[in-house]
Amino acid sequence: MPYSEYWWVTIERDECGRKEEILLEGEYLEAQEISKRLASEIEPPLFYTDKKEEFEESRRAFESDPVVSRALAIVEERGDVLGHGLSHVRKVAVDAGALVLIEMDRDACDEKRRRALLLAHLAGVLHDIRREQPEHAQRGADEAEVILRDFDLQESEREAIVKAIRNHEAFKPTVPLGDPCQQLLSDALYDADKFRWGPDNFTETVWLMVAPFKVPLTALLGHFDTSLEGIVRIKDTFRTPTGREYGPDFIAKGLQIGERLHSELTKTYEARQDAP
Ligand SMILES: [Fe+2]
Ligand SMILES: [Fe+2]
Repeated sequence: MPYSEYWWVTIERDECGRKEEILLEGEYLEAQEISKRLASEIEPPLFYTDKKEEFEESRRAFESDPVVSRALAIVEERGDVLGHGLSHVRKVAVDAGALVLIEMDRDACDEKRRRALLLAHLAGVLHDIRREQPEHAQRGADEAEVILRDFDLQESEREAIVKAIRNHEAFKPTVPLGDPCQQLLSDALYDADKFRWGPDNFTETVWLMVAPFKVPLTALLGHFDTSLEGIVRIKDTFRTPTGREYGPDFIAKGLQIGERLHSELTKTYEARQDAP
């Protein structure tokens, strides 16, 4: 799938079964459409052009590995969780895989690379499995540990994924990992997750997070500056060398979209209020 399609993965919706999908409607849908247009008017994050080769390798492995598909099916069964559903975890998994490929020893054999990629994909797919609960990183790690007992992994591999999930939350203390491979997996998962605080925040996440609470968009606009401050703070927290190099570009592009969106929506609402 080319980058542009990957970027615009449609959030799957199902009207029956166990899935609890969030349907965007009315002003949220309108705001999301504006965000998508604004995102299409700026360059995609540089990571996807500069690191295209590793991104594509990660994406191909992600799409074709039956072990990853099995983990995805488990997450899919849970449905969307406050904007952190399948689209989010797919992107985190593929980007985490790309980061691991970029950062790992160039001389590593194919099998080692393939295995490292699989662990990054599984960590990405499972990392938000308890997103709706407090302390979701710790709880998600506990649940991933149980889920992964049924997967054909070595004990050390399972442990690496669980520790990475436990360490993925922003602005929380992390547990330093003695093993460099485990540390890389943990840092790559964190960075790939925080890449989503860039354009994705406005094209996908924020609308799905607020939609269930039915907060009027005008109320949201009043808190926009505070929300943007939180996004600014994340740019100094990236953990891998590649994350530190490209993460701030994601964040800058997200902020650009956010500021334009705020200005467009404010003008639209003012015009509607002035209308006879
Ligand atoms: Fe999370
Ligand atoms: Fe996440």
